[in-house]
Amino acid sequence: MKEAGPAETLELAELPKPVINEYEVLIRTEAFSINPVDIKTRNGKSLYNELKSQNPFIILGWDVSGIVEEVGKEVTQFKVGDEVFGMVNFPGHGKAYAEYVAAPATDLALKPANILHEEAAAATLAALTAWQALVTHGKVSKGQKVVIQAASGGVGHYAVQIAKYLGVYVIATSSAGNKDFVLNIGADEHIDYKKHRIDEVVNDADFVLDPIGAENIDPSLNAAKKNGTVIMLPSFFKDEIAQKAKAKGVNGFYFSVRSNGDDMKQIADLLAKGLIHSHVSEVFSFDTIKEAHKQIETGRTVGKIVVKV
Ligand SMILES: NC(=O)c1ccc[n+]([C@@H]2O[C@H](COP(=O)([O-])OP(=O)(O)OC[C@H]3O[C@@H](n4cnc5c(N)ncnc54)[C@H](OP(=O)(O)O)[C@@H]3O)[C@@H](O)[C@H]2O)c1
Repeated sequence: MKEAGPAETLELAELPKPVINEYEVLIRTEAFSINPVDIKTRNGKSLYNELKSQNPFIILGWDVSGIVEEVGKEVTQFKVGDEVFGMVNFPGHGKAYAEYVAAPATDLALKPANILHEEAAAATLAALTAWQALVTHGKVSKGQKVVIQAASGGVGHYAVQIAKYLGVYVIATSSAGNKDFVLNIGADEHIDYKKHRIDEVVNDADFVLDPIGAENIDPSLNAAKKNGTVIMLPSFFKDEIAQKAKAKGVNGFYFSVRSNGDDMKQIADLLAKGLIHSHVSEVFSFDTIKEAHKQIETGRTVGKIVVKV
């Protein structure tokens, strides 16, 4: 894309293969996934200004799964032919909507043999966000009570499964239509957010994940116990959550996911052991990528959508 705008702004272009540096591998892409941050950036928000200031055109995308075709001189952990997946260069320029992606080796893990490239491409930005929210920042531990909101979405469906792996009690929110989905992936309890604010049902959670923000901030903070943790995902609300959390005696903050090959290895291990699964609700092609963007824009995606190359 050259300028910010609607899905129609996306254009297919023939470009030279990326040239890798000594710490990168060249991946022949099998599949990549689409996230709300792609849409926000395409619309001129999120990472748009930063990427545009450095590039005449932006190649969107960060989530890739594929086969290593070249290996940089300093790369020891991967070889040509390996199947790898990861979130590339986030929050920089990932350039993953492409047939070939240059990726720092430190952002990647080996794709488990038991899952498809589509499932691996899905389990990158969204799965890393869930992992880093619960484990790295939330320090969630066995026996705790956790609220996962938007549990049927990309981040939420991994967060429910990772939370269950961590041994916690999970209360999950979605609309009524996705109740069975979130219970089937392991949630212990379901709240239909259209019928109940979460703080009508819970006020003693150790950890609350809020992928929604805005008028949801107060209910999220009220659902946490004193000194509990509330993590906010949309960046627009980072100042608001910090101020309100302080006033309520809750540890509430925004964080941004970061590329991290070690965290990717943890996710790969959970996928390999069948402890978490990617729910890929729809697979698109390069030709139908505008439809994929429009699907994410509905805000109603269940699990993840991916593009098969
Ligand atoms: N800070 C970070 O590093 C970071 C990382 C990843 C994502 N994010 C942000 O987190 C948000 C979620 O990302 P995502 O990939 O999970 O999005 P997504 O897959 O598009 O989420 C869609 C899901 O959200 C549910 N939903 C929508 N409104 C809801 C509400 N008020 N309460 C409960 N569920 C609701 C929908 O369920 P129903 O159809 O049942 O309503 C749908 O299944 C986005 O704003 C994204 O940009 C931030």
